[in-house]
Order: sequence, then C-alpha cells, then structure tokens
Amino acid sequence: MALKFDLTHLMADAVGPQHGLTDEDLDTLVGKTKRIHADLQTRRAAGELGFYDLPSDSEGAAAIRAMATEVRDRCDTFVVLGIGGSALGVIAVQTALGHAFHNLLSPERRGAPRLFVPDNPDPELTSDLLEVIDPKATVFNVVSKSGSTAETMAHYLVIRDLLRRTVGEAKLRDHLVFTTDPEKGILRKIADEESIPTLPVPPSVGGRFCVLSAVGLFPAAVMGYDIDAMLEGAGAMERRCATTNLWDNPAYLHSGAHMLLQRERGKHIAVMMPYASALRDLADWFRQLWAESLGKRHDVEGNVVEVGQTPVKALGATDQHSQVQLYVEGPNDKVHTLMAVENWRHQCPIPPDHTDEESLAYLGGSDLGKLLSAEQVATEIALTNNQRPNCKLVFPQIDEAHIGEFFMMMEIATAHAGGLLRINAFDQPGVEEGKIATYALMDRAGFAEKRGTLKKILAEEARRSI
Ligand code: PA5
Repeated sequence: MALKFDLTHLMADAVGPQHGLTDEDLDTLVGKTKRIHADLQTRRAAGELGFYDLPSDSEGAAAIRAMATEVRDRCDTFVVLGIGGSALGVIAVQTALGHAFHNLLSPERRGAPRLFVPDNPDPELTSDLLEVIDPKATVFNVVSKSGSTAETMAHYLVIRDLLRRTVGEAKLRDHLVFTTDPEKGILRKIADEESIPTLPVPPSVGGRFCVLSAVGLFPAAVMGYDIDAMLEGAGAMERRCATTNLWDNPAYLHSGAHMLLQRERGKHIAVMMPYASALRDLADWFRQLWAESLGKRHDVEGNVVEVGQTPVKALGATDQHSQVQLYVEGPNDKVHTLMAVENWRHQCPIPPDHTDEESLAYLGGSDLGKLLSAEQVATEIALTNNQRPNCKLVFPQIDEAHIGEFFMMMEIATAHAGGLLRINAFDQPGVEEGKIATYALMDRAGFAEKRGTLKKILAEEARRSI
C-alpha cells in the first residue's frame, strides 16, 4: 500500500470558497505544471537535479551497505557531525524507524550503535556529549558537502583533538568517516592525505535534497535499517510523480494546492502536523526543505519577489494542547498537512479501570493508537468546520518504504513549487550570506573587509541595547 494523499478538506466545498480551492482553480495549474515538469526533466537529464535518480543508484547503495556493516561491527556509538541538510534527514530517519529510546537500550537489545547528531555547535551540548561517549568505541561521521560549514568543521576539530588524545594519531582513521563532495573541499583533501574512509555526496544533489544519498543512507544502514526498501519506496514515488496529469500526481497536487492557497487565499503558513511521535522529525526535515528552497528574494529573471510560505512543524496530539486553539480560531492564514498512521507497529491497550467513572470508563478497553488516531480525525473535523484548509498524508505504516516515499514526494513537490513561484528552489543565497558573516566574525582569513563592516554595524547597534 502506497502513501495516500487526501486533499478533500483543501477544497471549497469543505472549507468554503474564501478559504478553499475549486477543481477549476487547480485546473489553472495544468498547463504550467506540464511546462515545469518538462523543465525539471530537462535539467535532470542534464545532470543538474540528481535527487531524482538516487533511488536507482544501486552501486552507491552497495558501497554504503558495505561500509556500514564494517563500521557497525566496531563501534558502540555512532556520532554524525553535520548541520542543515547534512543532519536533519539523519535525525528524521532515526526518529521514524528507531526505538523511541534507542540510546537507552542495552547493547544486546538495541543491536546497533547508539546514535547522536549534535548538529548545533553549542558548547554545553557538545561538552555533555563528550562526557557520555567513549571515543575508543565511537565512529564519527563528518558530513559536509562543501566541507566549509563552520559548525560542522568546528565539531570536526574538537573531535579530531579528542581522538588524537584518546586513540592516538595512528588510529584516527579508524574512528572517522567523511561524507563529502567526491572531488572538492577540505574534507576530501584531508581524506586523501590521511586515507580516511569517505562516501560521496553527488555534486548534483543539493544539501537539503540529499537524505537519500550517503548523507542519510549511511547512518541509516549503520543503524540497521533497510536502505534498499527506503530507496524502493522513493523510486516508486518518483515513478508515481512522473505523470504530468496533476490530478494523479501527489507531489504536484500538494505543492500546487499550497502555492494556490498562498497566492489566492492568503495562506502564508504551511503547518505539517504528524499524529505520530515517530514522524515528528519528518516535519522538521520538511521545514528546512520548504523554507530554504522557496524563501527567495528574486525570481529567475532577477525581479524582487520576496516569496515563500513559512513552514511550521507541530505534533499531534501534543500540540492540540498548545497550538490547535490558534489553528482553529486564530488568523486563517494557514494550510495544514496532517499526517496519519493506519497500522501502528505496537499496540498499547488501555486497561479498563474506574469503570463507574464516566470520564475514564470510555478509555478502558481501547488502545493508545486508537486514541491518537481519533484525535487526528477530531482535529481534521475541527479545522474543516472552522474553514481551515487541511490535507492528509496517510502512512499505511511507518517503515523504510513509506519514509522513502515521503522524502521523494516532498522533494518533487518543492521542485514543482519553485517552478510555480518562478524562483530557483535549489540555491540558498540567504544561508550563504550568514555563512560569510560567521567567517568574518570568527576572523577567517580573506574576510577582513566584511569583518570591518560588521564590527561597525555591531558597535552602532550596541548603543541601543539596554
Ligand atoms: O540545503 C543546504 O544546502 C544547506 O542546508 C546545507 O545542507 C547546510 O548548510 C550544510 O552544508 P554542508 O553539507 O555543505 O556542510
């Protein structure tokens, strides 16, 4: 059973003409979608959009599996050092597929190393992490496509020093794997000089589109997940989205409806709300994909457009007690994607007790899965009754194949949305600007001029802080 996309409650007949779409609205995208599809396929054929073809890279997958088998046998802890697209997919896969308390299980019970992904270069977080790992039994996967991201490279230097002091210079390479560009960058250079094992990030795959490359698949394989099934799911979704018939294409329908709802109905916020803790970090992964790809100042012709829909992640049922009041009655400026699960991996029956108490009796004899699913339906009804457009992604179950489908669907949706907005969904000039400012403030050579300008701005601003 494939991932299901249900757009019933995005439509005007469900949420009213002021907030929902008609078939005719969606039909206005048919011609544009054909052109965007053709353009994306041309760029794909020219080798620019490698994410489409990751599911068929069986050679790459075999190399990942081989290295993962070897690594998992010789470590009890696996640490991924990366940030943004080089971390969020890893976290999302582990949260979706792993035991919710994986790192707390005994080694026999967990059957895979403990996994840590300290993406933030926070001195307290990293110091605490170093306290709970034994470097001699740890492999560090340094993941940076560019090899120049300050956060990741700072972590790398911290870890390299730690390893030098604990396992010794001669054994450094046994504790490091670099995932980086196959030819360029400082990590590639160091790996070549020091024979550190590496896996490639294909140059044609952008950072936030690389979860199905070695970036996401290697940690997944080390943790023992079936990466072939994940790729099969992604491949099936890619084939499903090869049609230019908008009405049969879940990715184009999702993005098309979102873009129309923003432009025509003022839905500037896209809430993704899984009703499953295991899917929580898929929403976080999507948040980066949608924000960094679509939030752009210029269109492809260089006109100032300042577009992008703000993605928000929420979790059902937790956020019913935090955010849903706002979603149901606050500004009607959001489109919601609820994520539902049909078959839970575990049951957790609720034992009947206090059967004479009305407020408890209805729960006894039921199951936590049934409760959570009911809450998802209840939110759908509440949103719809209050004219809040919402759609639903249904996971028949949470497993590798459906996670793979989700990743590919959202990547294709993002590429399509970029086409509808007429912006470049594959660059991130705003992020690069931040990276350059960081280099300047951290005194990196070659950034003196920028440093001077920033220091002046900061001095000026300091006068205003009380
Ligand atoms: O999508 C992107 O390109 C970014 O979010 C990158 O993934 C992030 O900045 C990390 O870059 P790198 O892998 O080069 O360290």
